[in-house]
Amino acid sequence: MTTAAQTSDLKKRASYKAVEFVKDGMLVGLGTGSTATFAVDALAERIAQGLKIEAIATSEKTAEQARRLGIKLTDFAHHHQIDLTIDGADEVEVSTLNLIKGLGGALYREKVVASVSKRLVIVVDQSKLVDRLGTKTAVPVEVVPFGWQLTAERLKNLGSTPELRLTSDKKPYLTDNGNYIIDCRFGKIEDSAGLADQIGLTIGVVESGLFVKMTSLVVAGKSQGIEILSRS
Ligand code: A5P
Repeated sequence: MTTAAQTSDLKKRASYKAVEFVKDGMLVGLGTGSTATFAVDALAERIAQGLKIEAIATSEKTAEQARRLGIKLTDFAHHHQIDLTIDGADEVEVSTLNLIKGLGGALYREKVVASVSKRLVIVVDQSKLVDRLGTKTAVPVEVVPFGWQLTAERLKNLGSTPELRLTSDKKPYLTDNGNYIIDCRFGKIEDSAGLADQIGLTIGVVESGLFVKMTSLVVAGKSQGIEILSRS
């Protein structure tokens, strides 16, 4: 049984390891979530020691952290390719390195950034590693607010139990893009690519939290040490 403090320590150690892949002159994608926060801290420490990089953030929250720590931010008006992105994940399928992301709500920007990254390095603690996606978590799907009820019905017809994400005061959760999130519980997913395509074709959907064939490396913090998994 791993305590919350131990899990946090595994995330932190794995994040510091992942930041070793960042080299001078790179454009770096900054992920979102409690794990990515450690990576941003680690990057700021390396910058303080002389590393020169620019970065693109995947959420307003991460952008705020980066600015506070003096990390130079840029955007897609200036760059169309990112050298390396470091981000967290909610589930990693060990055999494929396919992912479920978005429990933190930043899945759309995370996918945009991942889609133009030469290398996507995912940092997780051991609890995120699964044999099949969908085992533990729902698939977050960002949807346009107008007609979200219809989109939810369509997502149900794909075989899920959809649930509109709410804030603590029971209002629809709003993403940085002003959209809603529907968390879709599918159970074990046998065909992630097929499901990602089906969700992507659904009217009202902006993007899903299924990241298929995007990961280059996973840095996994385990009780017995850090393990690096790469996609063959
Ligand atoms: C943010 O939208 C997510 O994709 C996060 O990367 C993911 O939820 C992992 O979050 P933690 O690092 O907080 O577990």
